[in-house]
Amino acid sequence: MTGPAPRPGPQAAADRGRADGATATGTDAAIPGLILARRSRRAFTDDPVDAALLDRLVIAACLAPAPHHSRPWRFVTCTTPGAKRALAEAMARRWAQDLAADGVAPEVIARRTAASVRRLRAAPALVLACLTDEGLDTYPDPRRRAAEWGLALCSLGAAVQNLLLAATAAGLASCWVAAPMFCPEEAATALDLPDGWRPQALVMLGRPAPGGTDRDRPPVPVEELRARR
Ligand SMILES: Cc1cc2nc3c(=O)[nH]c(=O)nc-3n(C[C@H](O)[C@H](O)[C@H](O)COP(=O)(O)O)c2cc1C
Repeated sequence: MTGPAPRPGPQAAADRGRADGATATGTDAAIPGLILARRSRRAFTDDPVDAALLDRLVIAACLAPAPHHSRPWRFVTCTTPGAKRALAEAMARRWAQDLAADGVAPEVIARRTAASVRRLRAAPALVLACLTDEGLDTYPDPRRRAAEWGLALCSLGAAVQNLLLAATAAGLASCWVAAPMFCPEEAATALDLPDGWRPQALVMLGRPAPGGTDRDRPPVPVEELRARR
């Protein structure tokens, strides 16, 4: 899509989604508007996101499919400046160490980590999605333990997508941020999380800043991406 992004209510978001779909897939009529309307948006107004709305998004997340009727997810809603800053800075410190170990120049590290901290602190709400072992099957061997954890991670992805779609329907801008996957201990410590909560994904949320544009979605080359047997 090109041009300024219209500021959504749910219907506008869905309508925009349909417009996106015409260029993104060529099959927009078959794709629900909400799926097309969800885009990663990283700029927000200063308006707070209501705690009750955040709870509704968490409930939507928890309606995702999960292995063995488990519910291995935990969600931390961060809206206070202190919590957002503690989380952002803890993850940035770890990222800086990783970049230094990669040989990245100190000034580049400083620039990138400062931008990351700024961006996370500017989001009115952050939702940290965590996994626990609760309800997961246990196995004596590493192969099946790894597979079981993989199942839980898959379900966390489904839960986060539910949250993103529910946020889109509520007229919120959102963006999934990968950082906690690279530093779960640091993220857990920063927010003083209960034992066993392992951070995996972060979502920035807020009202969309005016004037943003979405990157065009490349067409989906379905013939390359799908095999039929
Ligand atoms: C697992 C995962 C991790 C991501 N991590 C980041 C991230 O760290 N920073 C960011 O700006 N976007 C991140 N994204 C958003 C992607 O960049 C985005 O989904 C992709 O470019 C497609 O654009 P769209 O979401 O607007 O369709 C992530 C998405 C996923 C699914």
